[in-house]
Amino acid sequence: MEYEILKPEMKDGIAVVTISRPKALNALNTRFFEEMDDYIANLKNDNSIKVLVITGDGKAFVAGADIAEMVNKNKEEGSAFSRLGQATFRSLEKLSIPVIAAINGFALGGGLELTMACDFRTASTKAKFGQPEVSLGLIPGYAGTQRLSRLVGQGDALYLLMTADMIGADDALRIGLVQKVFEPEVLMEETLKIAKSIVSKGPKAVKLIKQVVRNGLAMDFDKGSELEAQQFGSLFGEGNEGKEGMSAFLEKRKPEWN
Ligand code: CAA
Repeated sequence: MEYEILKPEMKDGIAVVTISRPKALNALNTRFFEEMDDYIANLKNDNSIKVLVITGDGKAFVAGADIAEMVNKNKEEGSAFSRLGQATFRSLEKLSIPVIAAINGFALGGGLELTMACDFRTASTKAKFGQPEVSLGLIPGYAGTQRLSRLVGQGDALYLLMTADMIGADDALRIGLVQKVFEPEVLMEETLKIAKSIVSKGPKAVKLIKQVVRNGLAMDFDKGSELEAQQFGSLFGEGNEGKEGMSAFLEKRKPEWN
């Protein structure tokens, strides 16, 4: 598929996709979801990609769902537009590789919801975050009501959702909405350093971290711990990644991952 909105690049096992519709501050429309679904499907078939970084073009990461596309929808069409975004973000979240949002500017509404479907978030000091839907007489439609409270806790989530307040990078860092903040000029360079550091680690272990943490959150504690024990064991033994990593440590050499 030819992309009009997504600009994909890849280098040394790291894929970077830039959302580029700067005239509408990268607002998410149906075309974006079609392209993103195609991009995610291609990534699933590409074993050479170890980490995905998502960013935005211009002064916004993404300023939300496309209000011009939504304004004339009826009830059924509104729900369908919500389910469309929810499904894309869910398949993004379910990718086996780590996904990092590098938030260069406004991450509002559907834009913030997109970052929350990523595994963690880096941000520019200039980034702004918010769920402004109630100002439009709406609620979030891409699972923001679900992910925000799980990520930052009920109090901060309900505050952001009910007030529509926009917060800056320092507050986002304080409530755990982002994990690292950098000056705008070095946001991508620093995010790529993090991505490279992940690429250097045991690739199976990195994928298992994602699987065990994410699946474990949907289980009770004991079932999650049992999943951990099973997958911990899967890394041991001749020919497995843990054997190589531990042997390399003891032999004072760099591990050679398969
Ligand atoms: N949808 C469609 N177009 C948008 C947009 C959006 N979410 N956000 C910005 N744009 C467009 C503007 O209409 C404007 O277009 P024109 O030049 O053709 O007038 C262009 O992008 C530039 O925007 P501004 O002139 O408003 O830029 P600004 O710097 O003055 O303000 C802003 C920036 C504060 C982010 C402001 O654009 C804004 O408030 N945008 C809307 C944010 C919002 O409400 N997002 C939530 C959408 S609803 C949602 O996301 C629901 C869901 O969960 C599914």
